[in-house]
Amino acid sequence: MARGGEQTHFGYESVPLDDKQGRVDDVFHSVARRYDLMNDLMSGGLHRAWKDALVTAVNPPKSGRDFSVLDLAGGTGDVAFRVVEAGGPGTRVTVCDINSDMLDVGRERAAKRGLDHAVTFEQGNAEELAYPDRSYDCVTIAFGIRNVPRIDNALAQAYRVLKHGGRFLCLEFSSVDVPGLDALYELYSFQVIPRIGEAVTGDREAYRYLVESIRKFPKPKAFAAMIERAGFRRVSHTSMTGGVVALHSGWRL
Ligand SMILES: C[S@@+](CC[C@H](N)C(=O)[O-])C[C@H]1O[C@@H](n2cnc3c(N)ncnc32)[C@H](O)[C@@H]1O
Repeated sequence: MARGGEQTHFGYESVPLDDKQGRVDDVFHSVARRYDLMNDLMSGGLHRAWKDALVTAVNPPKSGRDFSVLDLAGGTGDVAFRVVEAGGPGTRVTVCDINSDMLDVGRERAAKRGLDHAVTFEQGNAEELAYPDRSYDCVTIAFGIRNVPRIDNALAQAYRVLKHGGRFLCLEFSSVDVPGLDALYELYSFQVIPRIGEAVTGDREAYRYLVESIRKFPKPKAFAAMIERAGFRRVSHTSMTGGVVALHSGWRL
């Protein structure tokens, strides 16, 4: 619950907690149509490998067994498509995202790929999910959690909707811990990414926010502790690409 006057970060800016979601929504309304192209350009295609690592951890059954995944902040459906393609005919993914423009792009992409029978796009806030308790085998969130104003609420909701024995997986930018690479990453993040963002989407500020929000996100150990506080067990995390990204995992046991 927001208390009167409580502040949070929108990138490097301090903003009232209740204002953050609106600011985040403006960013993704602005970039939705170019979002997927930008991911490829900014990461040099690496986001595909990071998402593949997430899908490997989801491990959807190849058999026809029913397997339901909730992809929070699932945007244009990238993770959902990969999960469905990796799984058998019983694999279903619900993409839940707060932003109607991102979801519209996702629905068009699903139809083009012939995956609309297995992927459903629903508008919703990760902080207050409308789904019943214990209804999903797996809950994923990729590059979404740092945009959510009240992260603890989103983690509690992920826990609530997971079935007993279900797994929570979160892919998020992390902190680079390789000497040399850190300076290069800093330069690339602040000098190159906003410029690419401006050239491709016309919105330099959106990409400045994205870069700054990565720096403000808790370090992997601190975030793992938040996952534990939400009730998850066997919490772990794996760094990828020198710490550019971390894959966090927790189980509802
Ligand atoms: C960087 S995009 C990630 C999209 C997708 N998961 C991917 O990896 O390509 C972040 C997404 O988080 C969504 N988002 C932000 N706040 C949210 C909230 N409170 N609940 C649900 N989605 C949210 C945005 O609308 C946006 O689509």
